[in-house]
Amino acid sequence: LATAATALALTTTATTAFAACDAGEMVIKFSHVTNGDKHPKGIAAQLFADRVDEEMDGTACVEVYPNSTLYNDDQVLEAMLQGDVQMAAPSLSKFETFTKVFGLFDLPFMFKNMPAVDEFQNSEAGQAMKSSMERRGLTGLEFWHSGMKQFSANKPLILPEDARGLKFRVQPSDVLVAQMQALGASPQPMAFSEVYGALQTGVVDGQENTWSNTYGQKFFEVQDGITETNHGVLDYLVVTSSDWWDGLEPEVRDQLQTIMHEVTVERNAAVEEVEAESRQAILEAGGEIRELTDEQRQAWVDVMKPVWAQFEDGVGADNIALAQEINA
Ligand code: LMR
Repeated sequence: LATAATALALTTTATTAFAACDAGEMVIKFSHVTNGDKHPKGIAAQLFADRVDEEMDGTACVEVYPNSTLYNDDQVLEAMLQGDVQMAAPSLSKFETFTKVFGLFDLPFMFKNMPAVDEFQNSEAGQAMKSSMERRGLTGLEFWHSGMKQFSANKPLILPEDARGLKFRVQPSDVLVAQMQALGASPQPMAFSEVYGALQTGVVDGQENTWSNTYGQKFFEVQDGITETNHGVLDYLVVTSSDWWDGLEPEVRDQLQTIMHEVTVERNAAVEEVEAESRQAILEAGGEIRELTDEQRQAWVDVMKPVWAQFEDGVGADNIALAQEINA
């Protein structure tokens, strides 16, 4: 009986997770690190999977692994080059060992909001960035949006000097390291899946992230509060191995590309709503959100914006100029 129950449990798990993969279909593993639902990336990945499963039935199916269940972002790109996973959507902060251009999106106060990010990415310069890693074997398919980043810490952050001396978890990006150093804080690069524990145990004092991640990973529960700085951008690149992608039958590749593009347009248009729902959910769960006056926010701008100059060569002065033109 125990064996039968175990077998049933295993079957149920397998059936629930990947109900649509039939024998003979090409399996596309899509690995990511955030929540699977109520999150811009989780929703988009699942919509892509559902549409492939339905519209390419018999040919291909997608297995989505959310919440770092398959890989952390620091492992996934190597795994992709080995052919162990076919798709992922790491944040643009996580490609630094492959290209410097995405540092543009990490520069503090570079984009005023997500529509400005969208406009930049849809420009010729933005679209060209998707192929910036071809020589390293990675093909960018689409940019997926999440939202603007906010700071949180184990004490109130109102002015930049409040961050001085605190340890902040950052994504593995030299730009984000420099941003925290500009504040006199101590940056600690760390995998996303480790952040909650590090905040809870005091290994770090604070972090920066979107409303959807701060809510979805429950960071707000182990922080004093969140300060609405909107100081940076969290955006993703859906990426695949160039070898795998180029080796697909042309009609299969075209169909995957069309579905991916339609999902991108649909879900990118909805991210502000998803982020706002997470912001509201934090308030409803008793989280503290601090808004800044224009003068207080300007103090953060004055301290952080000088890091742009350090990274101009890597990200391109033309790209900075275009981003600023779009913001205007
Ligand atoms: C992070 O590491 O904070 C984010 O890149 C996680 C994500 O994918 O949203």
